[in-house]
Amino acid sequence: MQRLRVHALGMDFASPLVAAAGTCGYLDELSDALDLRCLGAVTTKSITRESRDGNKPWRIIGAKGGMLNAVGLANVGVEAFVREKWGHASRVPCRIIGSIAGHSTEDYAAVVRAFDGLAEMAAIEINASCPNTATGLQFSDSPELLRGLTSTLRALTSKPLIVKLTPNTGDIVGLARGAIEGGADALTLINTVQAMAIDPETRRTRLSRGKGGLSGPAIHPIAVRMVHDVYTQVARDAGKPIIGLGGVMDWRDAAELVLAGATLVGMGTSLFVDPSGPATVARDLDAWVQRQGASTIADLVGAVDMSAPELS
Ligand SMILES: Cc1cc2nc3c(=O)[nH]c(=O)nc-3n(C[C@H](O)[C@H](O)[C@H](O)COP(=O)(O)O)c2cc1C
Repeated sequence: MQRLRVHALGMDFASPLVAAAGTCGYLDELSDALDLRCLGAVTTKSITRESRDGNKPWRIIGAKGGMLNAVGLANVGVEAFVREKWGHASRVPCRIIGSIAGHSTEDYAAVVRAFDGLAEMAAIEINASCPNTATGLQFSDSPELLRGLTSTLRALTSKPLIVKLTPNTGDIVGLARGAIEGGADALTLINTVQAMAIDPETRRTRLSRGKGGLSGPAIHPIAVRMVHDVYTQVARDAGKPIIGLGGVMDWRDAAELVLAGATLVGMGTSLFVDPSGPATVARDLDAWVQRQGASTIADLVGAVDMSAPELS
């Protein structure tokens, strides 16, 4: 689908759709249910320096309008990832974005160095939503911390560096600016929204960790607003593409994020509902681009009309 081809980060993506970190396994596990050629990229689950078991169950539960998770970054660690999971990367028929999480700059740096050597990895995404052991703050709570982390990591790799922002902030534009000043080539937003659920009979929290992150349709309007703010106030002028995500279930949700300013669109929670969904979203998005009279979806990025809607 020519209309859906996207040029960003110095490369072509066959489609604007990206499978989101932590929702599609290590690499191409989705290919059991989906022809990955309808995606521009898959994102690996966030890989850490050491292996992690993650949190005890329950760590994923349903919620109205989406789901709550506190998986706790369960993964095999970077060494085993490269040794055991990366082997057939060259056969994955779309781009691969490697996601990294950590609790210190050195944690991130160790994984960036390892990822830098993986030829088939198209770009690196920094999941900056973990608490920094040195300050107790999340890297993504503070534009200064995020700028520092980004600039250190930027110097360690020649691959495009994407910084993923948390919505759990009063200053999403400041965070975006910090990441861009640190040298980010692109921004991904949003991660999950901090949330909590309680069983009224037992009076216990429903997630073992107490609190977790809300994803899915309930957070979609928040994502649209944040992508729009970041696009109009910092990313557009800086020439930095946005991977917009949060509750994309169908083409309308994806189109909204494009109109708000996203060049690429992530899908996460919807993959748990229907892992084959992106094929339909791609087909319907293509039809939307054609109906809009655009020759390519890139022409519609940030093209929202902010005048008041007419009453019908
Ligand atoms: C079960 C689950 C695990 C996730 N794990 C990660 C992760 O490892 N790294 C990360 O950056 N984001 C992770 N996320 C966040 C998603 O990538 C995405 O930013 C968020 O869920 C919003 O998109 P969605 O509403 O389409 O799911 C996870 C989300 C879910 C639901």
